[in-house]
Order: sequence, then structure tokens, then C-alpha cells
Amino acid sequence: MQDLLDSLFPAVDAIPHNWRLEAPLEQRDYLVNGQLRRWEGPLATVRSPVWLKENGDERQGVLGSAPLLDAETALSALDAAVNAYDKGRGAWPNMRVAQRIAHVETFLGLMREQRTAVVKLLMWEIGKNLKDSEKEFDRTCDYIVDTINALKDLDRRSSRFELEQGTLGQIRRAPLGVALCMGPYNYPLNETFTTLIPALIMGNTVVFKPAKFGVLLIRPLLEAFRDSFPPGVINVIYGRGRETVSALMASGKVDVFAFIGTHKAASDLKKLHPRPHRLRAALGLDAKNPGIVLPQVDLDNAVEEALTGALSFNGQRCTALKILFVHEDVVAAFLDKFQRKLAALKPGMPWEPGVALTPLPEPGKVDYLNQLVADATAKGAQVINEGGGQSRGSFFYPALLYPVSPAMRVYHEEQFGPVVPVVPYRDLQTVIDYVLDSDYGQQLSLFGTDPATIGSLVDIFANQVGRINLNAQCQRGPDTYPFNGRKNSAEGTLSVHDALRVFSIRTLVATRFQEANKTLISEIIRNRQSSFLTTDYIF
Ligand code: G3H
Repeated sequence: MQDLLDSLFPAVDAIPHNWRLEAPLEQRDYLVNGQLRRWEGPLATVRSPVWLKENGDERQGVLGSAPLLDAETALSALDAAVNAYDKGRGAWPNMRVAQRIAHVETFLGLMREQRTAVVKLLMWEIGKNLKDSEKEFDRTCDYIVDTINALKDLDRRSSRFELEQGTLGQIRRAPLGVALCMGPYNYPLNETFTTLIPALIMGNTVVFKPAKFGVLLIRPLLEAFRDSFPPGVINVIYGRGRETVSALMASGKVDVFAFIGTHKAASDLKKLHPRPHRLRAALGLDAKNPGIVLPQVDLDNAVEEALTGALSFNGQRCTALKILFVHEDVVAAFLDKFQRKLAALKPGMPWEPGVALTPLPEPGKVDYLNQLVADATAKGAQVINEGGGQSRGSFFYPALLYPVSPAMRVYHEEQFGPVVPVVPYRDLQTVIDYVLDSDYGQQLSLFGTDPATIGSLVDIFANQVGRINLNAQCQRGPDTYPFNGRKNSAEGTLSVHDALRVFSIRTLVATRFQEANKTLISEIIRNRQSSFLTTDYIF
């Protein structure tokens, strides 16, 4: 392990040419009202999780800097969005759906041109490996395509009139107003765009603040935003949340709050809004998804899924399996197989072929994980894999902890990193109680082959979490499936279809089914005197 850690971080010359960052990126631009403005105030240093060897020493890579906007500047971005929405009278919220789709398609075309630049920064800024960084970019593009198709579908269904109890009506979805979109550092592109794009395409105007890490990777897209949307429709700000986002929420001018982060931060921000009843929220929050391994089980599959579930992107996924309950009858075999598979995961730098374990972007994260491990070992657990819990700089080699008990912090806290707690159990009721009493309710995984047990557990857990995965790890995808959570884990449901609904409200134009009204409606449609009342069919 020592050799591995000694050789983990590279010297600059050892980095393949195409993935080297030639010079620090000093970003001063932000996007307000269709203009890239230059910020002359203070900047935040952007550091990389990748440390670099230099003269026999190792130091954290500095990638550049990003603007630390003040509250006043953030509010100017909000005002641009408010003006573009213009109380619902703006060009964007009134534009025909087909035209809004055309703008989003323009953006998608320009975004695709930035794939290499964004992928490179994903690796450098958050340490995501090349394959997953490319996947994040491509999945985001696919999500945009799927969103366009889902909206076309929705619009086609709304292009007809309905007749109920003598009332003729046309129901369409209309935008809500100004949306504030904030994403998480683990999916700084994908998760942010799964709210940003639906918000825009439904006719809302947006203020977007990138995640705390994964900031510079939005820079290559600023021109694409500027050139694809009318002024004020999308505004991009940077800076500390305390300074910027608090001011936006306190202004009362945000109508929709799309946020992925901790429930505490979400609650604090929501409380700042002076008219909370007028704030719609779409929140993706904390989770502590359990994996439950039953005594009758295909152990190889359970180990395979639990390993990727717990450790892909070093466990930094909201959907990661964050605690494993394994029946006593199979726990020895489970741990043995798990360790062997874990030992085969390759540590390294994000661009190295086949790398699975990479450095962590959050400052202080390695210390926090060390504390969790120290707490667990002081209370009777052991790190049972070779080298588990060893660290160097920002890198933490995964620790497989066993046996974990309720007295330990890692039993309760969301580690969001490469620590895998395994709890042995004999009585299934203790596991059921864990789920029932948990503050979280995103997903869980059941590993087993006995239909009677699985069937009854599905019924018990269906009212506890948003998704029950059978013999599979927890995950968000496919993106057309609902993604949500109960308790502290989420507010609202996202999926390609659901997101369009989250960022809009059904609005009905209704009239008595009488000759004069029929003529009136027919004339409006024939003369194209309304963009809402129309039977246009989008192909
Ligand atoms: O961090 C939470 C993400 O939504 C997880 O998505 O399950 O596709 O990795 P994923």
C-alpha cells in the first residue's frame, strides 16, 4: 500500500499531453442579461483533488480561480431573470413551444462542441474518472434530447380540446416564473441540467449557480448559453452561497427553487423566502441507502452490485449504498468475496485507463472519513481489507468496516465517501426497524432469492423509500423513471417527464359548449390569435 500511495500522484510531465492543463484558468466572466460580464472583485482559488509531485514534494494542484460575486451582483442576475419573465408577459414565457425547443436545440448543438473541454475539467475539478466523466456529459446530452421529445409529446396531447359536462376546455402547462437552479459537486453537469433544462424549456427564466466544486467546467458553456437564449432567460452567477443565494431567496423573487445538497442547507434557504407558500421546491437531499443481503442469495451478484453501489465514484453519489446489512449465515463469505473484488479496483488519476478509485475533491473529507473509521474501530469494528483507510493527501483508500453497530457514527451518518460499513444481523426485524426509524428515505437494495421474503419486504419498504432495487444497486437511472425520496431525502419527483411538470402548472381555458363560444374559439385558432389556444401539432 505504501508503494501505491507513493506512486499515486503524478509529476506534471507524467500526465498525458491531452489531459494536461497548460495554464491556470482565471475566470472572471459571469452571464447576466445575455452578456458575459467581467468581475473585477475578489476571486476564489479553484483547487484540484489531484495533487502533483514537484521537487520530491506533493502539493495540491491549483486549477485557477472563479468569481466571488457579491450580493448586489447576484441580485442583478435575478433582476435580469425577473425582467425577462416580466410577470409572465415576457417573450420567453409566451413563446410557442416549438420555438423554445428550437432554442434548446441550438444550445445542445453548441454544448456538444465543448465535450472535451468539459470532460477534462470534470476530471480535474472533481476527480471523476474519464469514463464516468464522458458518461456524465453524454447522459446530460441524452437527457436534453429526451426532454425535448417528452415536451413534444406533452404538447401534442395538449393541442386538443376536451369536452366534459358541457364545458369545452384546453389544458396546457404554463411556466411558474423565475427558477433558481443549483446542483451538487458529484454531478455538477448532469444533476444541475436535469432541473435547469426542464425549467427553461417550460418557459421559466433561470438563475443558475454552479456547484461548490465543478465550477470552471461551466465556463466553456457560457457562450453557448449566451448565444442560444434571449437576454435574461438564463443567467449564471458564481460565489459563496451565503453571500449570493441567501440574498436571492430573501428577495422573495424566486418562484422555483431547484437544489441538490443537504436538507439543512435547503431548509435554511427556504426559510429566507418571505412568502414560502409561493415558493415551489424541487430538492434532492441526503440519503443513507441500505443494501440488505438475505440468507438465501446469489452472493456473487450481491457482492458485485454492493461493491459498485458503495464505491463507484468513491461512494460520492447520493444513491450510493451507504450501509450494508448482511445476514450472519452469509456474512463471512460475503466479506471474503467483497474484499477480493475491492482489492481489484484500480486506484489512480482520473485519466488513467481502468481507474476506479480517485482522489476526493472536498477539503477536510479525508479527515472526516478517518474520524468515522477511528470512531468505529474504537467501538469494536475492524477495517478488514488490506490497506483500508490509508490515505495520502486527498486520496483515501476504501475502508471495509466490520462489524458495525448502532453505537457507531457511521451507522447513522451519510459518509458520502469510500467507507463501507457492514452490519451483521440475525433477526430481519432489526433491519426493518433501521429503515423505519431512519431519517432518510431515498432508495434501498434487497439481495435475495426467496420470493416469500422478498415479496413481504417489498410491501414493508414500499411506504419507506422511493425505489426498491431487487438484486441491484441503487441508482437514479434510467432517467425516464421517477427519482425522488421520502423524509429528509427529497422534495418532489424528477424524471424526464416529471421535471416538465415540476417546472410548470396546468392552466385551463374553459367555456360553455355553445355556438357563440365555439365560433369564438375556432376564430382564434384559425387566425392564430393566441399561442396558448392553438391546435398546432409539433412533429
Ligand atoms: O448523486 C446522486 C445522483 O443522482 C445519482 O445518480 O445513481 O445515476 O449515479 P446515479
